[in-house]
Amino acid sequence: MLNPSDNTSLPVTPLHIAIIMDGNGRWANKRGLPRAAGHQAGFKVARSIVEAVGKRQHKALTLFAFSSENWRRPPTEVRLLLELFMSALHSEVDKLMDNNVHMRFIGERSAFPDKLREQMNLAEQKTAANDGLKLAIAVNYGGRWDIVNAAKKLASSVQAGEMTVDDITEETFAQRVCLPDCGDPDILIRTGGDQRISNYLLWQLAYTELFIDEVLWPDFSEIELDRAIDSFASRERRFGRTGAQIGNGKSDA
Ligand code: IPE
Ligand code: IPE
Ligand code: MG
Repeated sequence: MLNPSDNTSLPVTPLHIAIIMDGNGRWANKRGLPRAAGHQAGFKVARSIVEAVGKRQHKALTLFAFSSENWRRPPTEVRLLLELFMSALHSEVDKLMDNNVHMRFIGERSAFPDKLREQMNLAEQKTAANDGLKLAIAVNYGGRWDIVNAAKKLASSVQAGEMTVDDITEETFAQRVCLPDCGDPDILIRTGGDQRISNYLLWQLAYTELFIDEVLWPDFSEIELDRAIDSFASRERRFGRTGAQIGNGKSDA
C-alpha cells in the first residue's frame, strides 16, 4: 500500500533523497564572479554528491537542475545552463557507468533542442541496466506539470475504456506521476536558505522531511549531507498518528 501511515517508525537512513540545489548565483555574486561561475561550481558539487550518495546505502537521489519556471531567467543564463547540462551529459556518463548509477530525467523534454533530447535518451539507455543508485535529474520539471500529466494519463485510460473513474485512486495516481519506482523522497534538502518548494515534487513530497540548509549549493559537501542525514535520523515520522502510537519512547503524546 502507498499510504505512508503503514511506514511509521523511527527512520534510520533516508532511502530516497531529493535536493533543491539552490544558491549558485548568490555564491558567485559574493565573490564578484558572473553567475555562470556559480553554476559551474554547482555542477562540480552535484557530481561529487552523486558519487558520495552512490557509495552509501541510499537507493535514490533526485536533483532539481532546472525548473519549468527557470525559463524566465535572462536568455544568456538559460543558454549557459543548457550548455552546461549538455557538456555534463558528454563527460559524466562513463563515470556513472563505473559507479553503477541508473540515470534518468524527469520533466517536459519537448522544450529542448533535438540534440539535447538525443543525448538524454542515450544516457538513459546506457545506464538503464545499472542496478545501483537511481539518479533522477529534474530538468524543465514542475510539480504541477507532473500532476497534470498524471491526470491526463488517467483521463486517457478512462476514455479508452481501460479503467473507470472509480479506479482513480491515490495508488493509481501515484503510479502515473514521475518516479513511481523510487518511493516518495524521505528527505528534501534545500540549500540557499529559502523556505519554499518552488514547484518541485509536489505530489511526492506529501510526507517528506524538510531540511533547509543556509549553505549555498557550491559550498555544499559531504559534511552538510551528513548533517542533513543526522537530522533525519533524529526525527519522529508520525504520518498523522500520535507519538505514543509510534511507540519509540520519544514522545508520550
Ligand atoms: C540554482 O541556483 C540553480 C538553478 C536554479 C538552475 P540559482 O541560480 O537559483 O542561485 P541563486 O538562488 O540565484 O543564488
Ligand atoms: C529552484 O531554484 C530550482 C532549482 C534549483 C533548479 P530557484 O532559484 O529557481 O527557486 P526560486 O525561483 O527562488 O523559488
Ligand atoms: Mg535560486
